[in-house]
Amino acid sequence: MKASSRLAGAVALAFLAQPIAAQELAEEQVNLISSRLAASSRRSWEIGTRAQAILEHNATRYSVFANNDLPPPSNIPGDQQGPLNPIWDIARQVLQNGAGGNDPAPLLGDSSVADPASIGVAVLLANWTNLDQKDDQYERAARNQLNFLYTDRVPKNGDGAISHRLEDVQLWSDAVFMLPPFLAYYGVITDNKTVVDQAYNQIRLYHDQLYDKSAGVWRHIVGGSSDADNGYWATGNAWAAAGMLRVYATIDHSKWSGKMKNEKKDLKKWVEEIHKGVYDRYFDGENILRNYLNDPNTFYDAASTALMAASVYRASTVMDIHTYVPYAERSRITLFTPNSGPWTNQNWTRFTDYEYFTTDGWLRPVVNPTSIKEKLDDGQSPEAQAFAVMMHSAWRDWRWAGEKGKNAADRALGSCAAVVIPSLAVILGSFLI
Ligand SMILES: *[C@@H]1O[C@H](CO)[C@@H](O)[C@H](O)[C@H]1NC(C)=O
Ligand SMILES: *[C@@H]1O[C@H](CO)[C@@H](O)[C@H](O)[C@H]1NC(C)=O
Ligand SMILES: *[C@@H]1O[C@H](CO)[C@@H](O)[C@H](O)[C@H]1NC(C)=O
Ligand SMILES: *[C@@H]1O[C@H](CO)[C@@H](O)[C@H](O)[C@H]1NC(C)=O
Repeated sequence: MKASSRLAGAVALAFLAQPIAAQELAEEQVNLISSRLAASSRRSWEIGTRAQAILEHNATRYSVFANNDLPPPSNIPGDQQGPLNPIWDIARQVLQNGAGGNDPAPLLGDSSVADPASIGVAVLLANWTNLDQKDDQYERAARNQLNFLYTDRVPKNGDGAISHRLEDVQLWSDAVFMLPPFLAYYGVITDNKTVVDQAYNQIRLYHDQLYDKSAGVWRHIVGGSSDADNGYWATGNAWAAAGMLRVYATIDHSKWSGKMKNEKKDLKKWVEEIHKGVYDRYFDGENILRNYLNDPNTFYDAASTALMAASVYRASTVMDIHTYVPYAERSRITLFTPNSGPWTNQNWTRFTDYEYFTTDGWLRPVVNPTSIKEKLDDGQSPEAQAFAVMMHSAWRDWRWAGEKGKNAADRALGSCAAVVIPSLAVILGSFLI
């Protein structure tokens, strides 16, 4: 073996000693995931969830996770104008569908109460930045959506928890992502702390009913006459954690951050509680969550895995909790590594040979969003696409913030070493021949 190749071997070794940066997607790959998301989001919560993905990934100055005070600038900075365009398309569509009248009404007709409210942040931003000089049309649409929630048409439980559904009182963990983030943002934009308090209170009431102490995680659905689901649905837990993080960040960046210390403390505790339950009790060597966390007879679901990991990176940057970063890293690396191993991502514009993505960028296998005991082997779930974008964006922000918890991650990454070491052996082997 010549000295030069020994040197090359040492360089290769040093290069490979930083394996974690290798399991990244190229921006074009993330955009491919996003284009599937854009074309497939049709239902109210999918549109709202897509809006959040756009803010987190592209229009970052207008995301509640931006490291800036809220409300955001009403004069849009030049570099945010392009990225906000799809948000404006969503807001315009809402007016075209007839919102913005005189009476309390949801932003979109739906049998769910909470889901249409998920579009609310886009409408609040349209009002705040005076989109298309529509006078008070966006304002009215947002106010009507808020007021609708407190009409008699919307059922509530005895404590005032707003039902996820219109037909009777039923609480779904999903609602924590759809409703409270809208309320919190509404309160901050309109300078009305009562509405921010409502965001926190709704979460508290949902937590009261859905968190199961003995299981360490949230049930999916309680109450109502049909569709009850006492199971510990993985996506529902991810919705809850991610929704609480959005509310936390909204409060934290508002002028009430100091006044609402106790509320923030609770939100932090409840997010940590979910992470502890999920990763300490229900996470195995696959690095992927089961569709029902505690039920080994249910399939591995990449969708909930991605949103849960996103919430861990956000908990690190926003709440200063780094404990579960190693698990999020394991999940992210598992989802984003090609079958042939790290460093083999040759085509940065598509997904060639990924276990967890189809060639054209669908995350898989994922739970069917409208029939949640069913698995979609080839993906095609709009919300799953948004979750993949959110995981990537949350991870990117975590890196920019200094990768806190990463050293713990290096130690805990047994499964990553298992991928890296064989490829290292192959490369070193080729030097030795
Ligand atoms: C972010 O912007 C890029 C470039 O315009 C676009 O391709 C992508 O779809 C956007 N992402 C989302 C989540 O909309
Ligand atoms: C709409 O925007 C204006 C600022 O232009 C703000 O004063 C008002 O509170 C906003 N209303 C809502 C419902 O967001
Ligand atoms: C603040 O919001 C509450 C709840 O929607 C409402 O009753 C109250 O009138 C609002 N206060 C102001 C000053 O607009
Ligand atoms: C990547 O894949 C696309 C789609 O199959 C193909 O058109 C392109 O040439 C490939 N690029 C590289 C560098 O292999």
